[in-house]
Amino acid sequence: MSLDQDTTLPLDHLVSTMEARLDAWRVLNAANRAWAATGAATGDETAKQAVEHQLRCLSSLEEFYAFPGRQFMGSLAELVAEGDAAAAARLSARLSAALLSKSYHNNPGEWDSDESSLDNADRLPPALNGNGGDKHRPYFEVLVVTPTPQTKWTEVSREMRRLRRPQDPFVYELVIVGSFEDAALGAILNPAIEAVVVFDGFHFASQHDVPLLHRFLEAHVPPGVADLTSEAMTPALVRMLKNLRPELDIYLLSDRKVEEMAANPELACVRRVFYEVEEPLEIHLSILDGINDRYETPYFDNLKKYSQRPMGTFHALPVARGKSIFKSNWIRDMGEFYGLNLFLAESSATTGGLDSLLEPTGNIKTAQDKAARAFGADHAFFVTNGTSTSNKIVEQALLHPGDIVLVDRNCHKSHHYGMVLAGARPVYLEAYPMMEYSMYGGVPLRTIKKAMLDLKAEGKLDRVRMLLLTNCTFDGHVYNTRQVMEECLAIKPDLIFLWDEAWFGFARFSPFFRQRTAMGAATLIKRAMAGSDYRSALEAQRREVGVDLDPADARLLDRRLVPDPDRMRVRVYQTNSTHKSMSALRQGSMILVCDQDFHHVEEAFHEAIFTHTSTSPNLQIIASLDIARRQMELEGYEMVMKATQLALTIRREVNRHPLVSKYFRVLDLGDMVPAEFRRTGMESLTGTDWTKAMESVWNDEFVLDPTRLTLVCGSAGFDGTEFKGMLAEKYDIQINKTSRNSILLQTNINNTRSDVAHLMKVLVDIATGIEERLAAGGEPAVAAFRGRVAGLMKDVPDMPNFSRFHDHFREDTGSATSEGDIRSAFYLAYDEGSCEHVKLNSREIDRRLKSGPELVSASFVIPYPPGFPIMVPGQVITTETIEFMRKLDVKEIHGYQASRGLKLLTPKALAVQPVMRIEVA
Ligand SMILES: Cc1ncc(COP(=O)(O)O)c(C=O)c1O
Repeated sequence: MSLDQDTTLPLDHLVSTMEARLDAWRVLNAANRAWAATGAATGDETAKQAVEHQLRCLSSLEEFYAFPGRQFMGSLAELVAEGDAAAAARLSARLSAALLSKSYHNNPGEWDSDESSLDNADRLPPALNGNGGDKHRPYFEVLVVTPTPQTKWTEVSREMRRLRRPQDPFVYELVIVGSFEDAALGAILNPAIEAVVVFDGFHFASQHDVPLLHRFLEAHVPPGVADLTSEAMTPALVRMLKNLRPELDIYLLSDRKVEEMAANPELACVRRVFYEVEEPLEIHLSILDGINDRYETPYFDNLKKYSQRPMGTFHALPVARGKSIFKSNWIRDMGEFYGLNLFLAESSATTGGLDSLLEPTGNIKTAQDKAARAFGADHAFFVTNGTSTSNKIVEQALLHPGDIVLVDRNCHKSHHYGMVLAGARPVYLEAYPMMEYSMYGGVPLRTIKKAMLDLKAEGKLDRVRMLLLTNCTFDGHVYNTRQVMEECLAIKPDLIFLWDEAWFGFARFSPFFRQRTAMGAATLIKRAMAGSDYRSALEAQRREVGVDLDPADARLLDRRLVPDPDRMRVRVYQTNSTHKSMSALRQGSMILVCDQDFHHVEEAFHEAIFTHTSTSPNLQIIASLDIARRQMELEGYEMVMKATQLALTIRREVNRHPLVSKYFRVLDLGDMVPAEFRRTGMESLTGTDWTKAMESVWNDEFVLDPTRLTLVCGSAGFDGTEFKGMLAEKYDIQINKTSRNSILLQTNINNTRSDVAHLMKVLVDIATGIEERLAAGGEPAVAAFRGRVAGLMKDVPDMPNFSRFHDHFREDTGSATSEGDIRSAFYLAYDEGSCEHVKLNSREIDRRLKSGPELVSASFVIPYPPGFPIMVPGQVITTETIEFMRKLDVKEIHGYQASRGLKLLTPKALAVQPVMRIEVA
């Protein structure tokens, strides 16, 4: 099966089942309708066989969902067997409509069936049964793994239903399976599963043959589990489920020594252990309690309460309570537009239970702790000024003046400013370029290791404090975070990692990409550290290349280096723009920390928070971070998988559409990641075997986040900026960013299939327009079009590498390593007398490039696109940089005013002997 396959047998899709399931129901409906319309009357067996085939496919899948459930599926099968085509068509249409709209979550009618042999009181979730009143109760499903024979499963469900009470805040149904493998299938296939109840004594093998599952399980369970006794299998099951979906609550029921089980560290992630025959009500209440723990949003809940209190406000926030707005003659529409609650929920107070973002001790603290749990971190910190600020907080907190930081030059500008503020010395690392699309990929691990070994050779390794990378990059390149960290820790065991995951926060909720997030990899590294894997690999490494890695040993660059578990420290930081991929308001961001030595930097960390956090943080942003966490913990898995699936659909549809693909193309893995970084040889995200895709995610140096789609538009004669404008103005489509000849589309948890349909329609429309124009304009139009396309696709300026810092900003001009004192350069430019402006196209520039004195940038110059600094303060400007700038045809260039020219540091200012400006720590 391939990643994007849309056949009717969804079970082996595993990860793309959600949409495939609905599609399979549609196919069943169509087959049923066709049978009812003609086949039944004419006795045509083929129509009936088509229904039977589709029903068989669906039946195996439907075992993993509570609705329609075995009874409805049984009824449907009976109707088909009896040849009642009309009734079968009616029932399948009804069921698929209920699935599509999810109306069975709160509409008792959907559970009601004449065809059912059970009485309806048993079928209906009680909340839907009149007991619950009008209140909306979120619905979920509980996976039960049990050795009980299948014949008794209905009875088990019935018993659990009897425990429901009118005051229950949520309502759930059971999905019962009997084996380890089926438990895995249930957790993967059914996103509505929120809790798992495991009864001791289940067996291993599934009754379904799903080859992909076996491959999947190989990575998630230790070898030999299938041969274990069921009791010994339980910890492996728990571990596997938590690996797949860490948010699930797991409960164990056993008739063994439950006290011992509860104390077993291998079962530490189990929420509660019960003695099997006792207290079914306790189990029921525990399940609800577990959901409530995720559902509770301490800050948001409190803000809602606060807003309902009759507050008299005598502080500095006139919009609070909204009186000056709703009574206004002139700005009442503001109130009407935003609604009263926004103003009732505004306050500048940190009292009244509102807590303080700067020093949280109450519900913000609890909300942050919940976020840490959700994202797999030790600590989480909410930030209300975007990841731009999160980055600066982490950098200020962890970097001393003079520390060396290895950093992708292509990183977000907040890091460059962060380095200026901290007084750190950046060693700029070059990502691999994708010249033809005017963009960069990621920084190869070899480049990172080489930089570290060079620093080691110069005796500077002690000063190297941090590696800072963007994961995923703007264009979707995802690092092998675990391998990068392990190999770097082998060279420097206490290196700190800052992963800027501004775009990638959602990845925590994807079982594929979680391991490639900073926190996911940190967890795996900590686990490996506690085991024996590193130790044995380290011994082999020592035999081969020695104990103290010699920087001159070229083998180190190609060998996978292993860290020393006795010396390494896991110090990982991640920043994410929660607002970019989850339901947080603009600027909502989080810092996630997994640092064994956090206690050493905690004070500095809080200082950094004080430095950068407004004393008037926006309460609604804080609340939205709390809510975003709730949503991701409860439905993140489903949403992320759906966004991924939509992205794959766009990729497939654009690239295979006969007309659209003539002019447009979504770049694939093979285009975005050079072969040398894809050991598995995986080339395409669509049309590739899932097994291979998983191997690629586990092993390849870079993979691609499918939700970030680079659509080449240069081949349609549009430059990125122009195409972006056209999509927005003419077609109401907003896109992410542009390059010279491409645009970046992004799917997220908010997208639907209708959005995809709209996009496709627009692309067809535009492609048709091009065809018509070319046909009407004849040969001259075709020639002009070809010329335009060639200009955009071939005549692309080479992107300049970072040249070097001017000697004035280097401690040791003879050094082979490239770190520089960016802060001094930045502040030298504050002195007007030390700066000059020279026009970009002037002869002066050419003359100085040829015969000096060197041109040295006084500022950051960042063109959009591509969005990375082609000059930083103190950088020597080279011919390549000037050529690139002269060819740039973008309007927005931060740090450069064409009318004044390039801002340079004067040769005179640079001639002054530098004072040692920053004490090297
Ligand atoms: C990689 C990266 N990091 C950080 C940021 C800044 O994030 P925010 O917009 O949340 O301040 C961006 C913004 O686009 C980014 O692309």
